[in-house]
Amino acid sequence: MSKKAGIIGGTGYTGGELARILCRHPGIEIVVMTSRQQAGKPVSDAHGHLKGYVDLEFSSALSPGEDLDVVFLATPHGASMQHVPALMDSGVKVVDLSGDYRLDDVETYERWYGMDHSDPGNIPNAVYGIPELYRDDIRRSQLVANPGCYPTATILAMAPLLKEGVADPDAIVDAKSGTSGAGMSPSPRLHHPRCGETILAYGVGTHRHTPEIEMVMGRLAGSEGKALFTPHLMPVVRGILSTCYLELKEDLDADELRAVYERVYAGERFIHYVDEPCVRAVAMSNHCQVSVRRVGGRAVAFGAIDNLVKGASGQAVQCANLMLGFDEAAGLDVPGMGV
Ligand SMILES: NC(=O)c1ccc[n+]([C@@H]2O[C@H](COP(=O)([O-])OP(=O)(O)OC[C@H]3O[C@@H](n4cnc5c(N)ncnc54)[C@H](OP(=O)(O)O)[C@@H]3O)[C@@H](O)[C@H]2O)c1
Repeated sequence: MSKKAGIIGGTGYTGGELARILCRHPGIEIVVMTSRQQAGKPVSDAHGHLKGYVDLEFSSALSPGEDLDVVFLATPHGASMQHVPALMDSGVKVVDLSGDYRLDDVETYERWYGMDHSDPGNIPNAVYGIPELYRDDIRRSQLVANPGCYPTATILAMAPLLKEGVADPDAIVDAKSGTSGAGMSPSPRLHHPRCGETILAYGVGTHRHTPEIEMVMGRLAGSEGKALFTPHLMPVVRGILSTCYLELKEDLDADELRAVYERVYAGERFIHYVDEPCVRAVAMSNHCQVSVRRVGGRAVAFGAIDNLVKGASGQAVQCANLMLGFDEAAGLDVPGMGV
């Protein structure tokens, strides 16, 4: 029998992407998608590409006692923590795509997100949802904090170097994202004449993904992680390429560096070592391409993902598969794009 899923925040980009993936999932059925603003309207009004695949109307909220196995929160930070306490009490599995439960330190959250955390008690219950690093914890968890899109590309790029202790956990991170990373609400920076046919840096030293990247770097290295993180907006809709510069602690040549990646990611179905990671090659897929070069005494590490799939909804489904006992790749086993 299929497991039943609910999506809170169904009109948004990640909510739509969850529905696109789950409508073809062999073992999960979407039974409810919420929107406060489009309640009562067909899901295919907001997501025309889902016509014929998702035959539901948006509900304004989950009904009390709704019989669900998993709930995806595709909601902004601040909103997710309003929903999580009741969901946790109900016993349902929860995958939160926002930043509300990613940081293990409440003060750090409140400083970077500029708001009080209303549910600090559930932070220790949340497992950080990168399956390639925390698979067993995810399998056992009731609440997964699905990682941010930039952190996913960045951490997967650097993890082998930090896990095997061959580089210092102090990185310069230069990352570029497509415009869907900002969600569906329009803003002047995301207006096509401003962001089309150009590239710009933003949030320099202030982007909320900085403490998340540093937290996981520190966990992997076993000492404080530091990242000088500069995000850029590039004129594509989907995709992130993260380029990370780290000082090497060991004198490894190119083949030895590559061997570190092949060891750490051996058997991973969604991580691929390639010479030239490329956002096009992973677009519309849950795959991540990684690579590393040695330049002088430094390693230059790369990670490429689709921000809406491996950077959000695909990874959320990968985590839900683990939580519900499905094959980890169920519903996700498709390649990226060629041209
Ligand atoms: N876009 C990406 O590439 C990406 C990647 C990784 C993580 N994320 C994270 O995933 C989350 C969703 O991102 P998105 O890009 O899909 O955002 P979005 O396009 O702005 O959609 C947000 C959705 O949440 C609903 N919503 C807003 N406030 C709500 C509340 N208080 N209670 C219930 N529903 C509420 C909205 O619909 P109604 O107002 O109609 O209810 C809408 O459906 C965010 O936390 C974001 O940071 C996004």
